[in-house]
Amino acid sequence: MSGSPIDKTIVDQKIKELRIPEVGKASIREIVALVNLVEEETGEKYIRMEMGVPGLPPAKVGTEAEIDALKRGVGSIYPMVDGIKPLKEEAAKFVRNFMNIDVHPKGCIPTVGSMQGTYVAFLAANNIDEKKDTALFIDPGFPVQKQQMLVLGQKYATFDVFSYRGEKLRIKLEEFLSKGNIHSIIYSNPNNPSWICFTEDELKIIGELANKYDVIVMEDLAYFGMDFRRDLSEPGKPPFQPTVAKYTNNFILFISSSKIFSYAGQRIGVMVIPESLFDRDYPVLQKRFHSTTFGSTITLRLLYSISSGTSHSAQWALTAMLKAVNEGSFNFVDDVKEYGEKAKVMKRLFLENGFDIVYKKDIDQPIADGFYFTISYPGMTGNELVANLIYFGISAIALDNTGSLEEGIRACVSFVKRDQFEELEKRLKAFNQTFSEK
Ligand SMILES: Cc1ncc(COP(=O)(O)O)c(C=O)c1O
Repeated sequence: MSGSPIDKTIVDQKIKELRIPEVGKASIREIVALVNLVEEETGEKYIRMEMGVPGLPPAKVGTEAEIDALKRGVGSIYPMVDGIKPLKEEAAKFVRNFMNIDVHPKGCIPTVGSMQGTYVAFLAANNIDEKKDTALFIDPGFPVQKQQMLVLGQKYATFDVFSYRGEKLRIKLEEFLSKGNIHSIIYSNPNNPSWICFTEDELKIIGELANKYDVIVMEDLAYFGMDFRRDLSEPGKPPFQPTVAKYTNNFILFISSSKIFSYAGQRIGVMVIPESLFDRDYPVLQKRFHSTTFGSTITLRLLYSISSGTSHSAQWALTAMLKAVNEGSFNFVDDVKEYGEKAKVMKRLFLENGFDIVYKKDIDQPIADGFYFTISYPGMTGNELVANLIYFGISAIALDNTGSLEEGIRACVSFVKRDQFEELEKRLKAFNQTFSEK
């Protein structure tokens, strides 16, 4: 490819070696493997935008607390399945301070990353009512959650929210919910991959419908506080992280430490279940798991069976990080603002070279700059764009991996270093020169 630093024959050879039938349709991990091989063989570095790795050092307060806990000997002691008390208390305080929502500490349960949290929540929700056998994803979304559905052998329905913002969301949701087979609604906010953020009106619609149809809303807050258009970082002071929890008690929140504290390697998050749902009796669920309440099914049946709780030392790390942000001695949003600042520059580079943003607005406001953004190139499908960019040393995943109906790709900013911006610009120019002439 003219102007590209990457040798096309090496890329083609590695695609063959990995037996990837169509690069454009490759999963995140396949793209990772391909790019690793090409980088190794050519010695050229890619602009890597495929995987959501934090890209910042872990929060120091967490690392130090974890080391201390290990030195104290927690490594030999099984933690409580539903979490150590100080963590449960700090998590409830965090929800109060940053969401303005009251929850009982007993419903704040550590999990091995939010991945484990959603896994057990899907498993429980799928068994609350015999008539309700389907989860509903408000897409685009995080592809691994669909993989969880596959592994669990569960049914799901999905729609792309692109054309259903505002009041239209109500009509679309009711279309699904009125069938009576939906047990839960899942979305991330801010959204992976599009970085759209639901407005208060939209969250109210979701909450109202959850009440009307008695479904559980699973709100994935992996990017908590990262709508950088507003400062959500002050404990106890508005504005707060917007949440469906203001509008319904039928919710589970998933708060991950991976991105907000760059603590992905230690695999810890908390799921937050309000008391009314935690204590609820679902006869079908009780029969299926020989259990009592919804909350105890999650802890004493599901988490107990899968991992018997979450790493003891990581729980102390998360306790310390939450305590520090609750007390205002650590501003977690300041630490991750860098993502938004990099996104602003990267978006500009793409826009100057013939690309367009796919998911552009939250109703009437331009979307925030954050961890991800979505881009398209005229005349190219998302799959073609992924495949063509690979030859120019830029890696990403296609939007159709995420349940989006739009043609484009997801760009993740976290792994791209500022000193690569110049190279990114050069490669985008070469790409545009090659394809704008076609
Ligand atoms: C929307 C979303 N949910 C969940 C996760 C995974 O979180 P964890 O690392 O806590 O398992 C991610 C990670 O990329 C994500 O983007």
